[in-house]
Amino acid sequence: MSIATPGFRLDDKVAIVTGASSGIGHRFSQVLAEHGATVYAAARRVDRLEELASTHDRIRAAGCDVSDDDQITDLVDRAVEESGHVDIVINNAGTTDAVTPAEHQDPGEFRRVVDINMNACFVLASAAARQMIVQESGGSIINISSVHGLVAAAPNAQAAYAASKGGLVNLTRELAAQWAKHRIRVNAIAPGYFETELTEAMFVGEDAGLRYIRRNTLLGRAGELEELDGPLLLLASDSGTYITGQTIAVDGGWTAR
Ligand SMILES: NC(=O)c1ccc[n+]([C@@H]2O[C@H](COP(=O)([O-])OP(=O)(O)OC[C@H]3O[C@@H](n4cnc5c(N)ncnc54)[C@H](OP(=O)(O)O)[C@@H]3O)[C@@H](O)[C@H]2O)c1
Repeated sequence: MSIATPGFRLDDKVAIVTGASSGIGHRFSQVLAEHGATVYAAARRVDRLEELASTHDRIRAAGCDVSDDDQITDLVDRAVEESGHVDIVINNAGTTDAVTPAEHQDPGEFRRVVDINMNACFVLASAAARQMIVQESGGSIINISSVHGLVAAAPNAQAAYAASKGGLVNLTRELAAQWAKHRIRVNAIAPGYFETELTEAMFVGEDAGLRYIRRNTLLGRAGELEELDGPLLLLASDSGTYITGQTIAVDGGWTAR
C-alpha cells in the first residue's frame, strides 16, 4: 500500500527571509530555495547576501534594514513586482542586548532590541498579509522566537531579548487568530542554542558558555543548524496546513525541564 503525503516541496512559492546574511536565516534561505521556493534573502550586509544568492539561482539578494518600516514595505513590493506574489515570510532578523541587570539597563537599548526582534516582525507580517489577503491563496508566516521567549534568560540578565521574544510568541497567536479566515497560518519556532554570530561567545573553547548549554539541555548539547530544517519545512509547506498559532521549541529539551 502506498500513502500519498503532502511532502515538503515549495515549488512556485515566493518566500521572504529576514536576517539572511548569516546563521539561521542564511541556512533557511538555502533550504527553502532547495525545496523549490524563490527566496528574497534580506539583511543589511548586501555583500553577504550577494554571495548567498550566487549559491542558488532561486535566491535574490535584498538589502533591507528591518528597523525602517519603509524598507520593509519596499521589500514586499519588490517580491510582488518581480515574482507576482508572496507566500512565505520568515521573520528571523534578530539582535540581543548586552547582559545587564534590568535596573541598570538603558531604556533606549531595551527599545532598540524590541524594535528589531518584535516590532519589525509585526510590520513585515502585516505588509505581507495585506498582499496574501489580496492573493486569496493563503500563506505561512514563521516568526523566529527563542527558548527565552518561553522562559527567562536567567542567569543571563537580558530583559529586552526575553521580552521581545516572549512578545513574539503571543503576537504569533494573535495574528494567527486574525488571519485564519484568510488561510494565512502564523507560527513560531523557538530555538535553543545554535552556534551563530549571535551566540559565538557561548561557543569559545570549553568555556562556561558551553557547559551552561550542556547542563541545561536534556540532550546535553547545542543544536546543529540543520536540525531546524524539518520544523521550518513543516510550517512552511502543505504538510503543516492544520498548524497555526503555535510555537515549536527546537531546543533539545531546554524548556521541558
Ligand atoms: N543562534 C541561536 O542559538 C538562537 C537561539 C534562539 C533564537 N535565535 C534567533 O534566531 C534569529 C537569527 O539569529 P542567528 O542566531 O542566526 O544570528 P546571526 O547569525 O547574528 O543573524 C542575525 C541576522 O539578523 C540580521 N539583522 C540584525 N539586525 C538587522 C536589521 N536591523 N535589519 C535587517 N537585518 C538585521 C543580521 O544581518 P545584518 O547584520 O546583515 O543586517 C543577521 O543576518 C534571531 O532572531 C535570534 O534571536 C537564535
